[in-house]
Amino acid sequence: MKPSPGMDAVSVIHEYTRIACLQTTWYHRPMATSSALAHPNIAFIKYWGNRDNGLRLPMNGSISMNLDGLFTRTTVSFQPSLPFDELIINGREVTGAALDRVAYLLDIIRGMADIHERAEVLTENNFPSGTGIASSASAFAALALAGSKAAGLDLNERELSRLARRGSGSASRSIPGGFVEWAMGTSDEDSFAFSIASPDHWRLADCIAIVSASHKQTGSTEGHALALTSPLQAARVADGPRRLEICRNAILNRDFELFASIVELDSDMMHAVMMTSTPALHYWKPASLGVMNAVRQWRGAGLPVCYTVDAGPNVHVMCPESEIQTVETKLRAIDGVSDVLVARAGGAAKIVTNGE
Ligand code: DP6
Repeated sequence: MKPSPGMDAVSVIHEYTRIACLQTTWYHRPMATSSALAHPNIAFIKYWGNRDNGLRLPMNGSISMNLDGLFTRTTVSFQPSLPFDELIINGREVTGAALDRVAYLLDIIRGMADIHERAEVLTENNFPSGTGIASSASAFAALALAGSKAAGLDLNERELSRLARRGSGSASRSIPGGFVEWAMGTSDEDSFAFSIASPDHWRLADCIAIVSASHKQTGSTEGHALALTSPLQAARVADGPRRLEICRNAILNRDFELFASIVELDSDMMHAVMMTSTPALHYWKPASLGVMNAVRQWRGAGLPVCYTVDAGPNVHVMCPESEIQTVETKLRAIDGVSDVLVARAGGAAKIVTNGE
């Protein structure tokens, strides 16, 4: 049928509109946004020292438990209009080393997804950071998950754990749920974490005695690089497989006595390495030691408790959930303990929607 002059005009307008729409879509692609939530974790067998600092391949395997109730929530949006990556932590724009570290992981994600847009990263922690409650673990686990999703990738748990590891070693353990082991592996491909037991396998709680909420002086990354300056690190690493096996079995058999002895030994061994490094790293405060001594006494008197301390002064006191109230009350009565946070075994990192 021969088009009438009126119809032609409409077709022409339609065609212009279609081209304009295509161009708009090309230049203003819809924002790719995704949000994720991840828990920090407390290590029972600690990661201290890397074989490869760039890839964060550890000198020994480690075991941890995710901490429910404490979390980092992160939203990543890749935006064509952004000239640089932006990082906003708890409502404040952050630049410098923290932004560089986030941009480093985003670069890996961009490389995997073959995209070039810069990203806005909004992140919130509901717990104090830099105090030995590993905020980098939940931060980089949430960033790996939200960032890869926003970039259009659909990574499995193993791939996510490997990706999170590149941002912070302990973050590899905040991807799977519950009680988690990070196998040191031999390369980037096989150094990842996996669940050894679900959160409800063993009703354990972490009562975190806060003795200082100020930012620690030497971050873990610098600390890992010093590990081999301690003459004790080689012995600590050589004995690693034995401690891993005991800890894994204690968790699987819910054997608190065995668990307590290996967890305290492992924490003390790591701090022995830290204290004998050059320069020496002393993370404990007098009150940290006060808590550790008290915990040992309580256990001697029959209370199932044990302590472990990360790269900070606060003391993580582990006990069965049934003992939380007793332990919390006792901890609060110790000189120098300003607060006690209680966390049970937590789940895996997950994608969240606006309401969550
Ligand atoms: C003492 O994972 O924080 O908490 O890889 O440099 O980010 P980076 O280090 P990080 O080290 C954690 C050290 C630790 C022990 C542990 O969590 O296993």
